[in-house]
Amino acid sequence: MRLSTRTVFAAAGLALAMAATGCGADDGDGGSTAGSGSKKVEVFTWWADGGEKAGLDNLVAQFKTDCPAQQFENGAVAGGAGANAKQVLASRLQQSDPPDTFQAHAGAELSDYIKAGQIEDLSADYKTWGLTTAFPAGLIESLTVEGKIYSVPANIHRANVLWGNKKVLTDAGITKPATTLPELFTQLDTLKSKGIAAPLALGKDWTQEMLFEAVLISDLGPDKFSGLWKGTTDWAGADVTKAINDYKKLLSYSNKDRDTFDWTDAEKNLMDGKAGYQLMGDWVAADLDTKGFKDYNYSVFPGNGTAYQWLADSFVLPKGAKNVEGTKCWLKTLGSAAGQKAFNTKKGSIPARTDAVAADYPAYQQSAIADWAKAVAVPSCPHGSACSQGWQGAVNSAQGKFSGDGNVADLQKALVAAAKQFAVK
Ligand code: GAL
Repeated sequence: MRLSTRTVFAAAGLALAMAATGCGADDGDGGSTAGSGSKKVEVFTWWADGGEKAGLDNLVAQFKTDCPAQQFENGAVAGGAGANAKQVLASRLQQSDPPDTFQAHAGAELSDYIKAGQIEDLSADYKTWGLTTAFPAGLIESLTVEGKIYSVPANIHRANVLWGNKKVLTDAGITKPATTLPELFTQLDTLKSKGIAAPLALGKDWTQEMLFEAVLISDLGPDKFSGLWKGTTDWAGADVTKAINDYKKLLSYSNKDRDTFDWTDAEKNLMDGKAGYQLMGDWVAADLDTKGFKDYNYSVFPGNGTAYQWLADSFVLPKGAKNVEGTKCWLKTLGSAAGQKAFNTKKGSIPARTDAVAADYPAYQQSAIADWAKAVAVPSCPHGSACSQGWQGAVNSAQGKFSGDGNVADLQKALVAAAKQFAVK
């Protein structure tokens, strides 16, 4: 498996002119070869609330239309980025009690399940469902091992987005989001001087890693950043030390209770006007919309330029799934133009399919679709496109420790050690 490169993605782009097509005329309802017992399809995700649930609900409605003989069963386990869900899933897989399908990030995270022999090859289904050319080649690569494709992608999310509370910013005389790190520091100082004690809303470990990665992209540039995950950039380098110091400074503007916060708690600080900014993935767009909060703006994280830190939610067919036929109907719906539109218009992400129609989407996604077309694609570790789950765990605990002690040398040492242990040789 090779992680997607910017060249492959950029070449694929999103062709936006073609009309979206629904499932083909040969669509079954997943009930034709019944007799295998269960008609329940347990779909395991961490999309339990807000914009995440709104996206899932819309997809489920499409599934009900496409697969009337099947019954959706919600196996969601709440907790941002799958912090809790992944643990529950691991123990279920270990006990040979898989859900019918589960959410897995494209890239290194998916390859964990492939290497462990826990999921089925879907290459033949890709052909049957006409999916082989539906997605960008770079994305397909991140779902493929030794020529076999193992999952169906639902979307492409962007991680490196800075969300702003417009009123808080304008009250402080800030009329434009910061475009460089020094400018961001100046704006955060201004917000502090206007009485916003913790102007940068932040959550726990994985959300801290997201902020740190955004700083790394600014300080190293996209290519060297991607190289950190491929073994071509040295984690022990002086530029990484600089990024840790910049990140440490950013932490000083964040809420002190960050280690107890999920991303939605930090988002609440932003909505309540306790913060001016939050760095978070574009599921925030859907969540703020679902919560009826309109007074926000968004921009790429200062200094990230055209870097689009991508991640993709995909769904798999686990070995030993009880309702294979129903699961295949779910996967087919997910990969269809109608399924992708139903899901992504509500989820804040852009469709993985290249034949989506930009005008069908809310304003945020329209801007993301335009950015993606000219983007430099870089991966994300907390959201699996860059690193395995073992690596994610090591990085999360290093971030948690750093949040408490601020020891720059220790964090860098831990990151070097994690790369040494987990990077694919
Ligand atoms: C990501 C996932 C997104 C979103 C986010 C916050 O890992 O890919 O779809 O759910 O976590 O929970």
